Amino acid sequence: MDFQGQHILSTNQFDKDGLLVLFEEAKKMESEGGDLKGKLMATLFYEPSTRTRFSFEAAMNRLGGKVMSNADMMETSAHTKRETLEDTGKVVSKIVDVIVMRHPEKGSVAKLAAKSEVPVINAGDGASEHPTQGLLDLYTVWKEKGTLDGLIWGMVGDLKNSRVFHSQADLLRHFDVKFVLVSPEGLEMPTDYINGEFRESKDLASVIADMDVISTNRIQEERFASSEEAEKYKGALILDEVMMNGAKEDAVVLNPLPRVDEITVGVDDDPRAKYFDQVENGVYVRMALLKKVLG
Ligand code: NCD
Repeated sequence: MDFQGQHILSTNQFDKDGLLVLFEEAKKMESEGGDLKGKLMATLFYEPSTRTRFSFEAAMNRLGGKVMSNADMMETSAHTKRETLEDTGKVVSKIVDVIVMRHPEKGSVAKLAAKSEVPVINAGDGASEHPTQGLLDLYTVWKEKGTLDGLIWGMVGDLKNSRVFHSQADLLRHFDVKFVLVSPEGLEMPTDYINGEFRESKDLASVIADMDVISTNRIQEERFASSEEAEKYKGALILDEVMMNGAKEDAVVLNPLPRVDEITVGVDDDPRAKYFDQVENGVYVRMALLKKVLG
């Protein structure tokens, strides 16, 4: 797959070979630097972020490129003067070589990309997609297990609103994976994201023993109509040390972070907990992706 000069808006742009090539490249990035000297990246964030923005910026810096960043686009950009996303895209693309963008609305990144003359990478558009998080999640499991085929992939949490689960599910359609979907009532996975065999449960304890991957994420409070509505789900699904006693010896526990209460701190030292490793892996995956897009 050739990503040179392409926008990266959706997980549906990847096929199996493309993913495996990207993972091999990310592995190389763990020891090698890069060659994007002279290239300039803008990060346009209309929604809060810690990891994703730093990770993209670290990736570009480690590749020898340079970064311009606005973490508060909603408050400090021409958005406040009612500039359209299309115009902002056009304008910023006159200045930099690649744009990384996050925004609370589904489809917003595609809108900005439509008029951009340089590649735009989706760093999260509302509850819809978060392609690079999905990529780094799969990369983490691929590194741990050596393959993604034959795995039982558990997803635990707010499957309705978490773009992270949506992106994982879409990328996993290229592999022989069976899903076990665990969510509170009302926060089930929209079925159009799932390809392949799946079963659903409301009770983590009764299905955790089946999972090779235990992929978790917080209740996505900011996507609910009101904080009272979100409050109803507080503490709904919690992975703690007792729960981990029921998991496979070689399970891989994922979480994109930030965590709230869905994984207790007691799990952090469990060798199966890979959520802090994911953060480092994310830099390598984004280095590999930036190289492909700008290469
Ligand atoms: C995720 C996101 O923003 O969707 N965070 C991240 O990018 N690591 C997950 C979340 O906010 O729950």
